[in-house]
Amino acid sequence: MTKLSVNINKIATIRNARGGNVPNVCQMALDCERFGAEGITVHPRPDERHIRYADVWDLKPILKTEFNIEGYPSDEFIKLVNVVKPHQVTLVPDPPEAITSNAGWDTIKHLDFLKKVVADFQSNGIRVSIFIDTHLPNIEYAALTGTDRVELYTEPYATDYPTGREKAVAPFVEAAVLAKDIGLGINAGHDLSLENLAYLKQNIPWLDEVSIGHALIADALYFGMESTIKKYKEQLIG
Ligand code: PXP
Repeated sequence: MTKLSVNINKIATIRNARGGNVPNVCQMALDCERFGAEGITVHPRPDERHIRYADVWDLKPILKTEFNIEGYPSDEFIKLVNVVKPHQVTLVPDPPEAITSNAGWDTIKHLDFLKKVVADFQSNGIRVSIFIDTHLPNIEYAALTGTDRVELYTEPYATDYPTGREKAVAPFVEAAVLAKDIGLGINAGHDLSLENLAYLKQNIPWLDEVSIGHALIADALYFGMESTIKKYKEQLIG
């Protein structure tokens, strides 16, 4: 089974546009769970332009499914995650000013740093996933960090999908086979949508989890959140 984790950053972006508490991020997260989401993902950034650190604190005691916190492992982020203790932390290499995550880790260059951070989170009982592209040496070195999982950065897949989905998915399958063979769990995320999700799942049936924000929230504007979550889950039926 591949879990659907809904990234609720965009909900916070809408709330922050007006101040106040509409839409209510915590209520929305609970409703996503009620509608079938198997996890909730947040990505607090240092400027708090969408999810705020306070949201992370508010969400932790109320969520019933898997809580996944993504982010660059700055000292502040590490401290937050180790105290909040979500089920999973996803490490991304993006600088604070990035609009969204736009690359995976160079695990060869950052091996020592990642080893230290991974061990620190794991010693607090938190599963670790490392955001990564399909370059095979990066996957081999990810395993050397001791991480539990990798999250495949699927933006290139999504971009190339409309002009040739077989070619688009091939490097992701190769990367996922290697990750599986060396004992890593596999998540995927970025620009996954109702257009491209089912084909990814068909080609990598052993995917553990997808984390989806932008397209899912945009679809909810048309279909409503309940129907949208149902539609995304239908894409994941193997
Ligand atoms: N995974 C990671 C590591 C991300 O940074 C993001 C975007 O915040 C996502 C998944 C979700 O991407 P999207 O919003 O395009 O679905």
